[in-house]
Amino acid sequence: MRAFASDNYSGVHPLIMQEIINVNSDDMSSYGNDPVSEAALELFSKHFGSDAKIFFMATGTATNTLILKHITNSWNSVICADTAHINVDECGAVEAIAGIKIIHAEAVHGKLNVESIAPLLAGRKDVHQSQPAVISIAQNTELGTVYTLAETKAICDYAHEQGLLVHMDGARLANAAIRLGASFKEMTVDCGVDVLSFGGTKNGCMCAEAAIFINPEIGKNFEFVRKQGMQLISKMRYVGAQFKALLTDELWKKNATKANELATILAHKVQEISEVKITHPVETNAVFVTVPPHVIPQLQEKFPFYVWDESASEVRWMTSWATTEEDVENFVSSLKDLI
Ligand SMILES: Cc1ncc(COP(=O)(O)O)c(C=O)c1O
Repeated sequence: MRAFASDNYSGVHPLIMQEIINVNSDDMSSYGNDPVSEAALELFSKHFGSDAKIFFMATGTATNTLILKHITNSWNSVICADTAHINVDECGAVEAIAGIKIIHAEAVHGKLNVESIAPLLAGRKDVHQSQPAVISIAQNTELGTVYTLAETKAICDYAHEQGLLVHMDGARLANAAIRLGASFKEMTVDCGVDVLSFGGTKNGCMCAEAAIFINPEIGKNFEFVRKQGMQLISKMRYVGAQFKALLTDELWKKNATKANELATILAHKVQEISEVKITHPVETNAVFVTVPPHVIPQLQEKFPFYVWDESASEVRWMTSWATTEEDVENFVSSLKDLI
């Protein structure tokens, strides 16, 4: 089966699977005190600097939620885009586990800007209102779009002027890096991002995410929150192995480049079909389109994908490191037949 539903549908990249097997022979210390996890942390430090505090996690939702729990108090709120994963796709984990309020702004193609954030700060110092403490942006966004370096920096500068922190949900940071032609450091540390959820799972790993406190002060004691949050993985070496493979010989770059390129090819091919309309700029590995409603169920039978907005007949097609040009050709040819 080849799906266009999500990069979560694809398997584990063979080099990552091989590294998991490579570390499987001996006994090793648990809970991250092992040479494999240490080697992976070392590789992360090359990207984010030796001051950054880095914690391996198993899921993106837990990473976002526990970071936000750690850097806020119960009277705080987090500002994000209306389309943000933390707002619509994490089953209220931030509200339930971090115990804070989410305030969302209407975003354009999934992106916030200073103008959309500023009105949400109006109730600061009013004891009756929750107090915004963090701006959370996703890079790339849930709609596949990318903040330029200048856009990220403008949000970070504004946040810091206002005494707020910036969290970046980087579940697909690699795809955004390829689009920008920028390093992880340029996109985060140099723009002023305080804390990052770094995603490996969607880029070829099995279950490897990381909480990266670029500002080490705010990462102090996170190890206890991770444990209470049930994310201190006992056989951590297997997460370390995944990251070790992903960050060696720029595998992360190869995987994200392939995913992005195939989405571009898909977008070019469907652009020629008059019944299909692209609804958001295709900047990474997601193509959002409206299609005639009758084709959706039949196409889904052959190639699973998500309906994004049923009322608008809008769907999301997503590529991954595992998608091939042939998959895209077969998909487009089935789409044309159904139309
Ligand atoms: C932007 C974004 N952030 C976070 C997540 C959460 O990841 P997980 O499903 O591992 O909890 C996802 C998953 O789709 C995502 O798309």
